[in-house]
Amino acid sequence: MCGIVGYTGPKEAYPVIIKGLKRLEYRGYDSTGVALQDGALKVYKKKGKVAELEDAIVGKDLHGHTGIGHTRWATHGEPSDANAHPHQSSSGKLAMIHNGIIENYVQLKQELINKGYQFKSETDTEVLLNFIEEIKKNNHCSLEEAVRVALKRVTGAYVILLLDADEPETIIAARKGSPLVIGIGKGEHFLGSDASPMLEYTKEVVYVNDYELAIVKPDELILKNLGNEKITPYVQKLDIELAAIEKGGYEHFMLKEIFEQPHTIYDCLRGRLDTAGGTIIMSGIQQYADQVMKANRIVMIACGTSWHAGLVAEYIFEELCRINVEVEYASEFRYRNPVINPGDVIIAISQSGETADTLVAIENAKAQGAIILGVVNVVGSSIARVSHGGAYTHAGPEIGVASTKAFTAQLAVLTMIALKIAHDKGTIDRDRYMHLLNELSEVPNKVETVLKSKDKIKKLAEKYKDARDFLYLGRGYNFPVALEGALKLKEISYIHAEGYPAAEMKHGPIALVDEHLPVVVVATKDAYHQKVVSNIQEIKARKGKVIAVISEGDTDTAAICDDVLIVPEADEIVAPMLSVVPLQLLAYYIGVAKGFDVDKPRNLAKSVTVE
Ligand code: F6R
Repeated sequence: MCGIVGYTGPKEAYPVIIKGLKRLEYRGYDSTGVALQDGALKVYKKKGKVAELEDAIVGKDLHGHTGIGHTRWATHGEPSDANAHPHQSSSGKLAMIHNGIIENYVQLKQELINKGYQFKSETDTEVLLNFIEEIKKNNHCSLEEAVRVALKRVTGAYVILLLDADEPETIIAARKGSPLVIGIGKGEHFLGSDASPMLEYTKEVVYVNDYELAIVKPDELILKNLGNEKITPYVQKLDIELAAIEKGGYEHFMLKEIFEQPHTIYDCLRGRLDTAGGTIIMSGIQQYADQVMKANRIVMIACGTSWHAGLVAEYIFEELCRINVEVEYASEFRYRNPVINPGDVIIAISQSGETADTLVAIENAKAQGAIILGVVNVVGSSIARVSHGGAYTHAGPEIGVASTKAFTAQLAVLTMIALKIAHDKGTIDRDRYMHLLNELSEVPNKVETVLKSKDKIKKLAEKYKDARDFLYLGRGYNFPVALEGALKLKEISYIHAEGYPAAEMKHGPIALVDEHLPVVVVATKDAYHQKVVSNIQEIKARKGKVIAVISEGDTDTAAICDDVLIVPEADEIVAPMLSVVPLQLLAYYIGVAKGFDVDKPRNLAKSVTVE
């Protein structure tokens, strides 16, 4: 949450920073600000999105070759000009941006108030900045030294970037618990919450680790730990092309990402799934395959959409591998002193690889001896690094705040892991195994087919966009798909939507059904099909409007529904990768029809790096 950008080098810093902030706006967009070094510090900031700041500062002096910029997702203090970053210290000589939460800021603030400090904002950031300034003043030390001393007193999570008017070409950066990437150019350096702001300038990057501090100048990058010892930066080469983070002709990133799914699922399977040879090769899992096979229990830990992927995987692992699976919200798991037994395997699922709750949950479990496998999209992210092993989802950058292609890629990876383990463990017979490998390999083409119904779904969106509530129902493998469909709709159209297991509807939600309630039922051909059809009848008997996701050729079910969304027939194990796609499109088109910014829904941020 919050996007941070920094630049120092021969270029004008402002255009680099503004472009970078636009790329990072998926992380937060409550307010925006930049600080530039140009003889003195110049700070411009404003409530609202990056474009609003740009408009507000037309004609101002924006020169400077070193600068920092921020796009905020509010934690302490409402979105406002005063609470926007960068903050300036009391003397006006330091400027700082921050992503994270300083948990003991109240105590630090009181100490500073006692010393006569006054604050212009309600943020924890301004407190930390003045705390650093106070140390610098008292200890007569450099900014770098003051930051080091201050951070030893701080609890919480942070990435901070600081400018000091007395060191005009230097950016001091530090991280704990939030992501920070430094790009290395020729005589210049770039800083960002992820690599997207620097992608067009350099492919060489350093991922800064927790408790590291960076002193960044145009032609020098020094990394140190908080004990002031130098660390050799580990330079990695990025494997992302610029096109992957641009809209490429689509109206929104979300639509682009929905349409990328045939490719992203294919990329995820490529090189791993060999249908002819009957093998699945996953090098990051192989080393731990034995432990997974012998596991008494697998615990899937995730949040949001990734948690829904974990729920689908629970059905798949239990069915194919005969291993007990539990699916946990990371935020609950981390605080409830869970029992971790020897032989437990944890699978952490995360698109960003930075979700704070998931990260801490697996760190705790790791400390108690669990094997951690990560199913992560962002290469080099914190969760990927903390995990013992795992598999990347290779879906490419996901920029739309509502997750789409990451979900189907997670399902593809988790299905492959389950199939591999089931095969090695002998809990699946050869015919079923070969059948499922083939089914998996056909998913990309079948998703392509689903996408062809986009115009029909757009029309449906017009028809239902004014509904006040939606109910989403599904059973078995499609129950988590119903949850995911409801989440997508809530996120981007702000319509209240509930996902429920179809049979459970009778135990409460059926009271909501009347002629005004659209009920989306995932009713593809699987072992539960007839039962779900009965649930549809129950809704129709109460005059509910049924929009059903059905399998191609299922005219009987189509006949009893108000509207249908058709997907190709598929084995129930892979069906969620197909049935979720029309629900993504339905949510997208309803969000657009209601005139909302679907890529940046209100109050949300893509990467939730605060708990
Ligand atoms: C929903 C969505 C969120 C994320 C959740 C976990 O569309 O994007 O619910 O799924 O914040 O994020 P990751 O997967 O990055 O850990």
